[in-house]
Amino acid sequence: MTRFPKSPAMSCAPPAQYHALDSSSTGELAAQARAGLLSQPAAVSPKFFYDALGSRLFEAITELDEYGLTRAEAAIFDAHGAVITEAARARIGRPFDLVDLGAGDCAKAARLIPLLQPSRYLALDIATEHLRPALQRLQAAHPQLPMLAIGTDFSERLALPRTLCPGPALVFYPGSSIGNFDPEAALRLLAQARELAGSGALLIGVDLVKGQAELEAAYDDALGVTAAFNLNLLRHLNRLIGSDFDPRQWRHLARFDAARSRIEMHLLAREDLTVRWPGGQRHFAAGESIHTENSYKWTLPDFAALLRDAGWREPRHWCDPAEGFAVVLAS
Ligand code: AVJ
Repeated sequence: MTRFPKSPAMSCAPPAQYHALDSSSTGELAAQARAGLLSQPAAVSPKFFYDALGSRLFEAITELDEYGLTRAEAAIFDAHGAVITEAARARIGRPFDLVDLGAGDCAKAARLIPLLQPSRYLALDIATEHLRPALQRLQAAHPQLPMLAIGTDFSERLALPRTLCPGPALVFYPGSSIGNFDPEAALRLLAQARELAGSGALLIGVDLVKGQAELEAAYDDALGVTAAFNLNLLRHLNRLIGSDFDPRQWRHLARFDAARSRIEMHLLAREDLTVRWPGGQRHFAAGESIHTENSYKWTLPDFAALLRDAGWREPRHWCDPAEGFAVVLAS
């Protein structure tokens, strides 16, 4: 084998590339937020949690005693990461792209990349102002791995043009963000992921049903961090649509709806009030709510059936010791 001396240019990371895919434009998001505020009952997508402060508050949530989800997933990858990634590679059997849904700070993918050895890394996120510097740092650590940041709101529709993702893909969707989708929307997203993966595979994290008290504490912690995370959505809306929400007039509510197997988060008006923004307004009676999030909790058999309905085959799962969370591989 011939070895070439490394040129200085080769040891320097190329700039990670960036591609804006769809209508995740500010104007489109503002229109969605206004429509949600005017709907009956008022409901806005949980994607509006994640401005700069909201992303930091979510990171703080992951450190709370009550919120075990992120730690459980990390424990599964710590204990079984080598087996999981080997199983994924074996299923795909040839070079593949790692497609990271909701990549955020790229930290979860960063840990898997050395094991998975993808031929390219595609990081998808709606909030690209955080994604781009994170990807640039990761690129510096892996100068030979082609990386692409893709700004897209895949909660509306997940699809990549062939030119961006021509070959098989390992679709990586950690963190149980699939829980934000109701079962029909989850089915749609997972079917779109199946289409995108080609002869590739899916690696997905899912939070499992557990006791009501444990679930509700995870979404209504003693320090009030989740309450702040929920209320911060109002500040984000104020900037996005020019509304005049006063977070002091609202309070956080989280409750588990066992029949639908989902945590619901709401903001409740503490008093009669009117919110105004350029071109619109809405009155809220005391106690009236804005529904801000659903976080579905799945059982393993129901999630396996969902995957099957979406076209995924041979699910294999790994759980944490408490069996509160699962990482599932399917192809
Ligand atoms: C990021 C959607 C998985 O549902 O647990 C945390 C978001 N909301 N606390 C979740 C969240 C309130 C989180 N996901």
